[in-house]
Amino acid sequence: MRMDRVCILGGSGFVGRHLANRLVQHGISARVPTRRRERSRHLLVLPTLELIEANIHDPAALTELCRGSSAVINLVGILNEAGSDGSGFRRAHVELTEKALRACREAGVQRYLHMSALGADAEHGPSHYQRTKGEAERLALAAHGTDLDVTVFRPSVIFGPGDSFFNRFAALLRMAPGVFPLPTPRARFQPVSVGDVAEAFARSLLREDTFGERLELAGPQRYELIELVRYTATVAGLRRLVYPSPDWLSRLQARVLGKLPFKPYSYDNYLSASVDNVATHNALPGLGIHPASVEAVVPGYLAGGVRNQYNVYRRLARR
Ligand SMILES: NC(=O)c1ccc[n+]([C@@H]2O[C@H](COP(=O)([O-])OP(=O)(O)OC[C@H]3O[C@@H](n4cnc5c(N)ncnc54)[C@H](OP(=O)(O)O)[C@@H]3O)[C@@H](O)[C@H]2O)c1
Repeated sequence: MRMDRVCILGGSGFVGRHLANRLVQHGISARVPTRRRERSRHLLVLPTLELIEANIHDPAALTELCRGSSAVINLVGILNEAGSDGSGFRRAHVELTEKALRACREAGVQRYLHMSALGADAEHGPSHYQRTKGEAERLALAAHGTDLDVTVFRPSVIFGPGDSFFNRFAALLRMAPGVFPLPTPRARFQPVSVGDVAEAFARSLLREDTFGERLELAGPQRYELIELVRYTATVAGLRRLVYPSPDWLSRLQARVLGKLPFKPYSYDNYLSASVDNVATHNALPGLGIHPASVEAVVPGYLAGGVRNQYNVYRRLARR
């Protein structure tokens, strides 16, 4: 199998930008559909990247986008939906995955890489996010066979320049008046760097030992959420008392904050945090990748100051 061009669905987002960059470095050109080309113009600096405004929910348009690609990578995902009945999650995760798999078949694409998440579980996931991610993952693996080689990736929370984890907490801490009541403070994470995630995708494209597999991607260390938020405050130079909210207050915060237009935290996020976000078998070493630590990477971009946080916030509010 040759890898000339890859179509990246969801390629204009945080992970997609880093991945497109990495693929271009590997000599692979990328086609990135987006709903709003104007917002993704930053990608145009990459010489072999084709940015196309398109509706990927339209099956015929999706098939045409996939045609001529050596692989399709599906990164589309949302953390919150406009409503609260799960239909937004289902559309973005399950229905779009079905369409992407069909488009691969119709366009004769043999390789499909699917972005899932640790905690994705179609049956037992407590949140809409986790159940729909689990359903999508199951559909992708069920499609693995003679005409399609599928790999599913399950990362923990992903960090790096432009992330919506450390940057979002830094922005929220900055707005807090001294005390920061943190919901679900004991939730556990094993953050993984976006550079390592991008490299894992790039290396897996041609590695047959990853075909039909579900690969967990995680960093070198596990943390409770409160440790990560206190660390964020320290790195961003913010003197805040990060206070662990009890469960009743976490639920109340989720209900209230979920009503804000950009939903910094929602009830679905609260439910997701009841499941540990840590790996049982980290695939990165097996791919020859030595995972980068939070401490080695985060100070490099979090210390960027108010303007950096403001830009991230504006971007999050627009989604
Ligand atoms: N970031 C993390 O910490 C993390 C952790 C675990 C798993 N993941 C998974 O990794 C993937 C990428 O995450 P990310 O942080 O890069 O997300 P992101 O920055 O929000 O980007 C999401 C991308 O998906 C597209 N998209 C979103 N909703 C869509 C919809 N309804 N229809 C069509 N396209 C839609 C957007 O494209 P346009 O707006 O340009 O059309 C955007 O490029 C997601 O599947 C996510 O669940 C992320």
